[in-house]
Amino acid sequence: MATAASPHALLVQNPNRFFKSCFVNNPITTFTIPSNATSMRSNKPLTITCVTQVQDRSTQISQSQERVFNFAAGPAILPEKVLRKAESEVYIWRDSGMSVMEMSHRGKEFLSIIEKAEGDLRKLLNIPSDYSVLFLQGGATTQFAAIPLNLCKPDDPVDYLVTGSWGDKAFKEAQKFCKANVIWSGKSDKYTKIPSFESLEQNPDAKYLHICANETIHGVEFKSYPTPKNKNGILVADMSSNFCSKPVDVSKFGLIYAGAQKNVGPSGVTIVIVRKDLIGNAQPITPVMLDYKTHADNNSLYNTPPCYGIYMCGLVFDHLLEQGGLEAVQKNNMKKAEILYNTIDGSGGFYRCPVEKSVRSLMNVPFTLERSDLEAEFIKEAAKEKMVQLKGHRSVGGMRASIYNAMPLAGVEKLVAFMKNFQARHA
Ligand SMILES: Cc1ncc(COP(=O)(O)O)c(C=O)c1O
Repeated sequence: MATAASPHALLVQNPNRFFKSCFVNNPITTFTIPSNATSMRSNKPLTITCVTQVQDRSTQISQSQERVFNFAAGPAILPEKVLRKAESEVYIWRDSGMSVMEMSHRGKEFLSIIEKAEGDLRKLLNIPSDYSVLFLQGGATTQFAAIPLNLCKPDDPVDYLVTGSWGDKAFKEAQKFCKANVIWSGKSDKYTKIPSFESLEQNPDAKYLHICANETIHGVEFKSYPTPKNKNGILVADMSSNFCSKPVDVSKFGLIYAGAQKNVGPSGVTIVIVRKDLIGNAQPITPVMLDYKTHADNNSLYNTPPCYGIYMCGLVFDHLLEQGGLEAVQKNNMKKAEILYNTIDGSGGFYRCPVEKSVRSLMNVPFTLERSDLEAEFIKEAAKEKMVQLKGHRSVGGMRASIYNAMPLAGVEKLVAFMKNFQARHA
């Protein structure tokens, strides 16, 4: 509840402006006119209380007119319904009398939030009970070091399959902590392919095999997963940009990690799903905050976690379950990706996606224009029509449309209509 200050003068001098100022952004407004008020035109002072109440907009219709379609690669679009829900709870969460941002991370309210978030994520991904779920900080980038520090000794060999820039960064960091080896790199093909798994020359002694399940910059996505040759080997996947975009058989992996800021929440939360028997063997030099045992033993509450980010992830998980879980989410994602790739492929070369068809990402769609001199104009015109963040990563250029879970079909339909219109005007 908020009370507007001294409305009397404004009401008397300019009634239209008075009512507008009360109603704008405040759909529920009540006025109390005291019983001694006889006439608005009288010269007597009049006390009017204008009480405005912020409506719980989580119940309102989705995708408001003020919002753009945000095609950013991350931080990225969040479901409108989730934002509305957070908006309605930001000041006071349930009956706690405070915001989630103000809560003790050890209090019963926040414990209920993190436990529900974990429970819902377990339901979504059908995570087996012999896996821990950790809510961490430091981004996926921190995991590039934490993984070798936790999973192997300095002399252990490990394999990296490098299908894009993120896999390459993960490899380079791992080199500092173990004997990391690239068994295949797509660099010479500008990261547009994934090799056949049979052709991979895996080290039979490799402690783990690392992949990046979806390369955010290059738009290359694994549709199935390789099996480590070492029978005790562990498959490790960076799923930052396709986490919770489709069902995944978690039991095939020793460890899955993901930054939240693409599909499941704001930046600041990193989720690690790790088989329990892999915890507790960290190298002695491992900082306490990078040791999975620290976090597993303390249910992600060893130190102050990113509480608000975890709360937001929880709202997203709840929302994904409400939508019917990850099968339904995947179906929706496939439909969006299909219409976008069809538009690119059907453009007669005006638009081009360099990625091999069988491994094209459902999440990040890179494309170029035959006439690269039109790219700046394309981005400018799209932005005017409220479609933003379509510029490709600075390392590859061109365009990139990230169409994560929260991007509505209407957003992709609007983009393809714009693309066709742009082509008609410029071909
Ligand atoms: C696939 C992938 N891995 C790792 C990262 C790095 O994540 P962070 O910035 O959270 O450290 C990103 C960031 O975009 C990414 O897309």
